[in-house]
Amino acid sequence: MYQAPRGTQDILPQEQAWWRYTEQKAVEISQLYGYSRIDTPIFENTGLFVRSIGDATDIVDKEIYTFDDKGGGSLTLRPEGTAPVCRAYLEHGLSNQPKPVKLYYLASIFRYDRPQAGRYRQHHQFGYEAIGDDNPILDAEVIEMAWHFFLSLGLNKLSLQLNSIGCKKCRPEYLITLRKYFSKQASSLCSDCKTRLKKNSLRLLDCKKLRCQQLASLAPRSIDFLCPECKKHFNQLKNYLEQLKLPFTANHCLVRGLDYYTRTVFEVGPQDGNAQDTIGGGGRYDDLILELGGKPTPAVGFATGLERIILNLKKQKAAAPPLPKPKVFIAHVGNTAQDEGAKLASKLRRIGIGVLQASGPKSLKAQLRQANSLGVRYTVIIGEQELKTASVILRDMISARQKIISIHQLEDKLK
Ligand code: HAM
Repeated sequence: MYQAPRGTQDILPQEQAWWRYTEQKAVEISQLYGYSRIDTPIFENTGLFVRSIGDATDIVDKEIYTFDDKGGGSLTLRPEGTAPVCRAYLEHGLSNQPKPVKLYYLASIFRYDRPQAGRYRQHHQFGYEAIGDDNPILDAEVIEMAWHFFLSLGLNKLSLQLNSIGCKKCRPEYLITLRKYFSKQASSLCSDCKTRLKKNSLRLLDCKKLRCQQLASLAPRSIDFLCPECKKHFNQLKNYLEQLKLPFTANHCLVRGLDYYTRTVFEVGPQDGNAQDTIGGGGRYDDLILELGGKPTPAVGFATGLERIILNLKKQKAAAPPLPKPKVFIAHVGNTAQDEGAKLASKLRRIGIGVLQASGPKSLKAQLRQANSLGVRYTVIIGEQELKTASVILRDMISARQKIISIHQLEDKLK
């Protein structure tokens, strides 16, 4: 027997209410904040991700699904949504639209991660990007939208972590100091961090190992190295967040797993969780569009994993509204009645009334049992007598009361 590939999951019918609920809220919040939907291909040229996410990141180094297509080009299944959106923004001249250009997506994402609770090799993200404006009020709006989205879903007890990692002007000096600090501690670092020390020193702050975390907590802080512009930007952002009453915590160890970030970085997670439990994260990426061949274009965005949202909603014992399903069942006695039932079902569906119909030579008792287990509100019964008199029996499945009505009255009655 085949099974779904490791790290992937089927979303079965009984799970769908959670998914529709979460996606619906994502669409609603996007409309509320003025974002338009964009869908990009599931795979892109590998270079796009190597260039944007960075070749010294775990994602590009270990986690991308890359393959050669028959034409010999190297393609990669989308490991995140920001770079494809920027690629599309450039390719289709969206820069001609009024700024910021606000785009959102609901997309499947592929990362060759070690599967565990909340960590999959195929997951789904709701993400949004605001492109073309460097004002910190936009960072605050992006953060507030994430917060608002989680609250609207009914998630509570969340924490919001915030940091600024500076820009290409001020970060190099910080990185030199950070490397010096960790070099002195090199013998205590885990093997991954020894590699990070050479390849991606900012990520030393983000190690999940206890000893490395202890060292990181005492490490030099990026906010102490910000240039005057970055410092002003960060202070203004904090002011805006305070005005919006968003309960953020400044976390100087917060860096992100993708190299394109500048200035603002932030993450939202459960208050009692640790770094692996992050529900969503984002930040500013002012150099990415330039890096991809466009004009200098500041941008900021956020993405959240739908699996993690649903996991947390379930943990908090929240409920997703049930999906609509047919409320009417048509039962019959005899073949002619079954044919009439099919015509009636078609007519009712055309006016928007959901109908299920029994098929085959089942007893009326068995059909009513089926109607009960389907959870319909009404059963319409057509028997020989009803055929003769152009009527039906309408049975209320809750009270079990039934009455004969003319077939012409049925539509109005059900509506
Ligand atoms: P990210 O933090 O890599 O950011 O991913 C965003 C969210 O996707 C995470 O917070 C988490 O909820 C979910 N996620 C990531 N990996 C997995 C996984 N293996 N299994 C399940 N869920 C996962 C980005 O991808 C950036 N593009 C976000 C962004 C948008 N920054 C600016 N704009």
